[in-house]
Amino acid sequence: MFSKDLRAKPVAERLLGDDVVFFRANGRAFALANRCPHRGTPLSLGKSHFPRTLSCAYHGWTFDVTGQCVGALLEGPDAVIPRKARVRSYPVEERAGLIWVYMGEGDAPPVEEDVPELLLSPEMTRITKRVDWKSNWRPIVENFVDPLHALYLHRGTPLMSSVRVPGSAKLRVTKTADGKGVHLEYLYGPMEAEYPGLGKYPRISVLRRLLGRKEYRFYAEVRMPGYTTVKLPEEDLFFLQCWAPIDENRTRNFYTTAKGVSGLRQLLLFRLFYFLIASWATDIILLGQDQWMCESQDYGEEQLSSTDVGVIGWRNFARQNARGRLQDRVQGERLKTGSENGSRKENENGACESSSHRRAT
Ligand code: FES
Ligand SMILES: [Fe+2]
Repeated sequence: MFSKDLRAKPVAERLLGDDVVFFRANGRAFALANRCPHRGTPLSLGKSHFPRTLSCAYHGWTFDVTGQCVGALLEGPDAVIPRKARVRSYPVEERAGLIWVYMGEGDAPPVEEDVPELLLSPEMTRITKRVDWKSNWRPIVENFVDPLHALYLHRGTPLMSSVRVPGSAKLRVTKTADGKGVHLEYLYGPMEAEYPGLGKYPRISVLRRLLGRKEYRFYAEVRMPGYTTVKLPEEDLFFLQCWAPIDENRTRNFYTTAKGVSGLRQLLLFRLFYFLIASWATDIILLGQDQWMCESQDYGEEQLSSTDVGVIGWRNFARQNARGRLQDRVQGERLKTGSENGSRKENENGACESSSHRRAT
């Protein structure tokens, strides 16, 4: 959620399948589970009568920012309130104009540990917009560790029509320098090639032959717990997406276009570039094609091939680095020594599900 969208009125959101209410108290954002334990009314229907509290709309049970019920207004000031009359509270921070919530167990790590520098750095100028996709989080993130699809799926888009785009390529997958994700880079194949028994592919248009002097180059990075970045090397220009699962079938994205600019002239040029080009060529056409693929995909049995080195690399990376998994590993160790039970959430593709990261709401 954008910070500017959270005002006096509480706002209901769903994140990782949890119903959460966001509200402001003394200007700060707070988040509680959005279900009154009395008789199940969403707390988002309520309002604040007292500083740093939220009262349920039905009978006035009143919760403080830690989620503890501190008053039952209909029962009077002498009402005895049991300790268990409480709701979960989620750690919240506001940075870069967005509200970030920690959905995991235990103490929340510092925002800087999970949120990419690009989004926090005061050196960068950013334009962000929010879009929800009707797709599970995993195929979406895997769309971005599979950048080779751009050479085929996005080939005809305005951004790629005027550059030299090879017909095929390979992918180099490495860990990012900070170890928090995977870095993806093209290894160029031929511009066109003869396919035995089929003919030549791709047929290069006259327009591309005339205009396509510049090679299509970019770097991509994908980080836990769902940040995808595409960088155009010469431009110091970044397209960054934060993906937060709403539930099993929906994912929220904050698309950010970012550039390091200095001075008013560069700032105006960047804004002009965004509104005249990126706002439709990237955000609508290019990401629209990705959305179309992710929302159409039957995400089940697969036959992975050589173009999937990024997907495989990411799955291995996520399996080894998801914070929940690390905790599971520690618990597993404890289990071995007989002190405590360990648990592991893993799906059939071997990638780990983890909620122990900060998410943009
Ligand atoms: S349902 Fe919330 S106070 Fe009764
Ligand atoms: Fe794409």
